[in-house]
Parts: sequence; structure tokens; C-alpha cells
Amino acid sequence: MELTNKNITIIGAGNLGLAITNGLLKSGLLKNNNLTITKRKLDGLEEFAKQGIKITSDNREAANQADIILLAVQPQQLDTVISDIKNALNQQLIISTLTGVKLSVLQNKLGQNLQVVRAMPNTALAVQQSMTCISTLASQKNTQVVESIFEVLGKTIVIEDELMQAATVLGASGIAFWLRLIRATTQGGIQLGFDAPEAQKIAVQTCLGAASLLQNGGNAHPESEIDKVTTPKGCTISGLNEMEHQGLSSALIQGLVTSFKKINEI
Ligand SMILES: NC(=O)c1ccc[n+]([C@@H]2O[C@H](COP(=O)([O-])OP(=O)(O)OC[C@H]3O[C@@H](n4cnc5c(N)ncnc54)[C@H](OP(=O)(O)O)[C@@H]3O)[C@@H](O)[C@H]2O)c1
Repeated sequence: MELTNKNITIIGAGNLGLAITNGLLKSGLLKNNNLTITKRKLDGLEEFAKQGIKITSDNREAANQADIILLAVQPQQLDTVISDIKNALNQQLIISTLTGVKLSVLQNKLGQNLQVVRAMPNTALAVQQSMTCISTLASQKNTQVVESIFEVLGKTIVIEDELMQAATVLGASGIAFWLRLIRATTQGGIQLGFDAPEAQKIAVQTCLGAASLLQNGGNAHPESEIDKVTTPKGCTISGLNEMEHQGLSSALIQGLVTSFKKINEI
């Protein structure tokens, strides 16, 4: 399924739904009038209407006209939305961003004959730098369509549905973990003499640089990049080893495991 000339309906024009809308608008992947967004209270969506996007609170009608339906409501709204759209479903590709709702549950609720895909992005959607994990019960072609939508908003990876909770922790909660690390190194920089904006600028760009060394450096491994900056008996290895004595890697791993236990209890 090519995206050009396809109608996409986003049900739930909240934080995520609008971030995806903005990303799609910037991408030029589809014409603005092929995009419909829905929510119950339409105030605040005037800007989108001016750009030619259809805005409505009629989920059924919006689903009826769609080739692709992206669900971006809170999980507790799912049953209401499904009852709105169920009679309008035929051949549409359904993408769910709802945290914690398995593909098998979605297919049971929506109908076995529908093509269903789950996508778990993170808030870096807003700057087209999301990591979006995708699991799928759809054909390869339809899965590629979903990948192409989220590729304009960052990077994608297709994973097994049973790993989606782990993906939520590593990728979506991960935004908070990395921000806290940036904040902590910024605070360290302030103690060493920088003012807060200077320290944050250095910490942010250094974090981006470290990630880019791995992303743009082929098969680069973090430890081989660390070896390049750790002079024997030098300051970097002294600081790094002290961080490890204080439990840096262990704290991060235990934090991820704790988040994972929690998400499985919710
Ligand atoms: N935010 C993220 O970074 C993120 C990342 C990954 C996954 N998710 C998942 O994405 C989903 C949306 O998250 P969010 O942060 O965007 O939530 P949100 O800001 O609360 O947005 C949900 C939107 O759905 C609308 N809505 C509620 N009931 C509706 C209905 N019956 N029909 C149409 N629209 C309806 C709400 O507007 P009205 O009240 O006006 O209808 C609201 O604008 C959640 O399931 C979340 O787990 C979010």
C-alpha cells in the first residue's frame, strides 16, 4: 500500500496524535486533505483545519473514509472507540499506539480479518527523533507502510509483540532515563564551574555526540569508543571507574528491570 492518495485517520488528537500529525505534515508523504484527525472536543485544532486537514468528532465517519486508521486514545477509551468504528471497518489497516494492549487483544476486539499493527513511539516524535518499536499481525507490505509512516518521525524497528512491554521501558520510558542522566551531568558541570545553560549545552551535545558515534559509526561498540578516550592512569578512566564503583551500570539495569516489573503489573 503506497501512502500517496491514501486516507489516514488519526483517532485521538492528543499529544501523540498531534505529534504524528505534525510529522506527517512536514514529511510531505501525503496530501493534507487525505488526513483526518478526531477528538471529542475540537477546540484547539483550528490551525490544523486551516492547513486542509479534516477535523471531526465523528469517529465512525472518519473511519469509514480511511484506508489507514491510527488509534491514539488512552487505553481506557479503546472500547468506546471500537464501538464507534466497528461497523465502518472493512479493509482498513489499523495501527494502535495504545500502551499495554496486545495485538491478540486488538484483533479479538476489532475482528480477525483486519490487518493490525502496534507502534510504540516516544516523545522525541516532536523533533522527528522517535524510536518507534513495531509489532505486527499484518502483511509485510502493510507493515512496511507503518514503518514508512514512523520513519519520517525517527527510527523504527520491528519486534515480536511479546517484547512490546520491554520496548516501552527501553524506548518510551527511556526518554526520561536519558534526560535524567543529562540533568545529572549538567549538575556536575555546574559544580565544576559552569553556569547552568553552559553546562547543559555541553552535556546535551556530548550526549548527542556519543550516540552519533554509535549510530553513524557502522558497527561501533560503546566500549571501543570508551577505550579511545580513556588514557592509562588518566582522568577519564578514574572518573568512569568511580562511577562504576558507585553502581552506575548496575543502577541503570536495575532501574530498567524495575520499570519492566511495574509495567507488567499495570
Ligand atoms: N505520549 C507519548 O509519548 C506516547 C508514547 C507511546 C504511546 N502512547 C500511547 O498513545 C496513546 C495517546 O497518548 P497521549 O499522550 O497522546 O494521550 P492524550 O494526550 O490524553 O490524547 C488522547 C486524546 O484522545 C482524545 N479522545 C479521548 N476519547 C476519545 C474518543 N472517544 N474519540 C476520539 N478521541 C478521543 C482526547 O481528546 P478529547 O478528550 O477531546 O476527546 C485526547 O486528545 C495512549 O494510549 C498512550 O499509551 C503515548
